[in-house]
Amino acid sequence: MVFCVHYLVNYMFVFLCRNMSSFVIHVTVAVLNFVLVVMGGDPPGHMQPIGAHAPPLPLAELDTFPGPIEFFDNYVKPSRPVVFRGAAKQFPSFDNWKNDDYLKKTYGKWRIQAEEGKKENRSLGVQDMSYRKFLSVYAKSDIYLVQDVLPPNPMTKEVFLPKCLLCGGYTDVISTAVMWFSSGGTKSVLHNDQFENINCLYDGSKELYMVDKKFADLVPIDVMDGGYSSVDVEKVDMYKYPTLGDLEWHLGKMEAGDCLYIPLNWYHHVNSSQTRNLAINIWWNRMYDLPKREECAKQEADLPSYDALINYKIADPIEQSRPILFDTFNERAKSVSREDFVSRIENSVDEMMQPPENVDFGKLFDLMDTNNDGDLTVKEVYDTPAKMLYPFVGIGAFVDSGPPEEFDQRDEL
Ligand SMILES: *[C@@H]1O[C@H](CO)[C@@H](O)[C@H](O)[C@H]1NC(C)=O
Ligand SMILES: *[C@@H]1O[C@H](CO)[C@@H](O)[C@H](O)[C@H]1NC(C)=O
Repeated sequence: MVFCVHYLVNYMFVFLCRNMSSFVIHVTVAVLNFVLVVMGGDPPGHMQPIGAHAPPLPLAELDTFPGPIEFFDNYVKPSRPVVFRGAAKQFPSFDNWKNDDYLKKTYGKWRIQAEEGKKENRSLGVQDMSYRKFLSVYAKSDIYLVQDVLPPNPMTKEVFLPKCLLCGGYTDVISTAVMWFSSGGTKSVLHNDQFENINCLYDGSKELYMVDKKFADLVPIDVMDGGYSSVDVEKVDMYKYPTLGDLEWHLGKMEAGDCLYIPLNWYHHVNSSQTRNLAINIWWNRMYDLPKREECAKQEADLPSYDALINYKIADPIEQSRPILFDTFNERAKSVSREDFVSRIENSVDEMMQPPENVDFGKLFDLMDTNNDGDLTVKEVYDTPAKMLYPFVGIGAFVDSGPPEEFDQRDEL
């Protein structure tokens, strides 16, 4: 009984107080929790799988891929996840990839690195092996293939971009495509990604616990400088992570053939059914509005439902940093003066993973402000070639300094 009251009170409270500051909500819910716990029983969801504390909210659903503009205006811009039910079934690779013999014959030589542990543990290592070897052992091994499938990997030609990403703007900023393959029962840590993401499932089923990025203050991202949460997703200690008990969450349910848009920075935990499980996800970089909207509008009527990834260029890794430049913009004017640019970018240096030292951001402004009017526009920032950004902004894990020789040619075969 106490449990029920607790559950309801918590839930109604979060619901009623959407407009109050998260601090007030937080404190009040914490006090309520304390009172109820003293009255008897542990907090809801204690020592249960993540999400057990409250019923989930649903996600939006479509039964096909929308056009790129509709997708941007209704989902990307408002940061709203959506399931594309059954949309991956049309990909020509959909049936091929259910067949391990086909994969072995066609791509067996590919060198892969399989993560140790289907329950994600970022302190465990990886195992190097051929794809052929992986295909012979994965059914009985506690390993998870998480690996990009970019050129020159021959599999790229069987990876597809959905219609909603098929115009400039998106196709200029595709960051990577990753294969997720195991015998099932995987459990990721609770984390978020600095990328926009569409994940398409080819085999098995998946469930995602998803939390809106606006609740960042309540998500205990406590490992490796905010990389992910240390919470055990199978057994949540509600005393150690009390804010998880205050969170509303969405359940993403995917069956083979479904794709899911996971907006940038939404928190998620993914688990997969105890069956063969194969997914491909596309990550693309954050955009400022929809670049090339007019061009997209002209193309929209003639777009195919999907197109092979091999027909597009993978973005230079420095594109991951370009959005930081837009964070200096005045929202209304969609532009920025030299003075504001320099002071604001210096304040966001922390976010610019490993920026080069003693950078003269005034010089960067002058290089980008090609018409020298002292006002930097969206177009001017997008027109600045990637190579020109390297001396000024870092991109952390991917490259330390200077443009890579051939960033889109990875040695995987
Ligand atoms: C991850 O693996 C390490 C090394 O085996 C182990 O000590 C640690 O407890 C594991 N972490 C979790 C959260 O299971
Ligand atoms: C994910 O985990 C939850 C909680 O353990 C479980 O109820 C659910 O069936 C799992 N989902 C899949 C697809 O296996």
